[in-house]
Amino acid sequence: MREGHASRTAEHNALFRALESALPESRRLFKDPLARAFLTWPFAVVTWLAVVPGLRELVPWFIDNRWPGVRSSVVARTRLIDDAIAASLGERTEQLVILGAGFDSRAYRLPGLRDITVFEVDHPDTQTAKRKALGRVLSVLPQHVRFVGIDFNQRELESVMLAAGYREAARTFILWEGVTNYLTEAAVDTTLWWCARASPGSLLLFTYIHRDVLTRPGAFIGTERLFASLAKVGEKLTFGIEPSELPEFLAKRGLSLESDVGAAEYRERYFKDAARKMRGHEFYRVALARVGPPGH
Ligand SMILES: C[S@@+](CC[C@H](N)C(=O)[O-])C[C@H]1O[C@@H](n2cnc3c(N)ncnc32)[C@H](O)[C@@H]1O
Repeated sequence: MREGHASRTAEHNALFRALESALPESRRLFKDPLARAFLTWPFAVVTWLAVVPGLRELVPWFIDNRWPGVRSSVVARTRLIDDAIAASLGERTEQLVILGAGFDSRAYRLPGLRDITVFEVDHPDTQTAKRKALGRVLSVLPQHVRFVGIDFNQRELESVMLAAGYREAARTFILWEGVTNYLTEAAVDTTLWWCARASPGSLLLFTYIHRDVLTRPGAFIGTERLFASLAKVGEKLTFGIEPSELPEFLAKRGLSLESDVGAAEYRERYFKDAARKMRGHEFYRVALARVGPPGH
């Protein structure tokens, strides 16, 4: 991230969610009415263009052509995570922690979350921009949301979370979407240890990239332009995991893996047959783990 600036990749995700939300109800996977509010120029202009019939298809087509698979992967995983959070509410989840929340608007748009405490944890530079945008569109910031500013590469979560009212004994859903790949290995390790101290049975849903994309980017579609774009915004990919090592990697930290899916699989789950034509970003994975040993 560039110092003093909100994360650009967080804004990219908000753009993809805003574009999806502009589609007719029968064709979209979700509606995120706040996504547009987080966009700065020129992305805001892109979403205005996307309401014009004809351009509505052209804008995603252009993005998909230039950065294959990125938009469709973000859109499908947004829905996948919405569904996972909804399912967890049936398991008596008492608090939701969103690590590296960026412009995630789940706290404001998902039914059921108003009844629990939601912690939005993020780098202060991104969080400042988000709070400003929320201040413009919401008359009051909802009471169930608590904001926690932290740089994962510099500080540990324990003291800041306790100070914000996080309860270690409460059943928790921790979401860590789109972040591990920008951190140091040490920051990922420390954060996972913190997650594992949540009440047994709590859930951690996080995304990560296949380690090979860091060492053999040429083996994956679209990485050349993607890497150049990420370098331009100061958000290079830094950390990945070999999927076959994930169960052991998590077990060592007190977490048991429940599922681990790549972009091709979660796109197919939601886009069905249309997913066959979607290529790129297959290295981007979503893992769900439970706190405690298997079967908890
Ligand atoms: C790609 S965005 C993902 C945002 C959101 N979770 C989503 O999926 O749309 C990456 C997020 O990680 C946060 N981030 C990156 N490096 C960080 C760090 N060192 N400490 C805290 N947050 C960080 C950024 O502020 C940004 O919100």
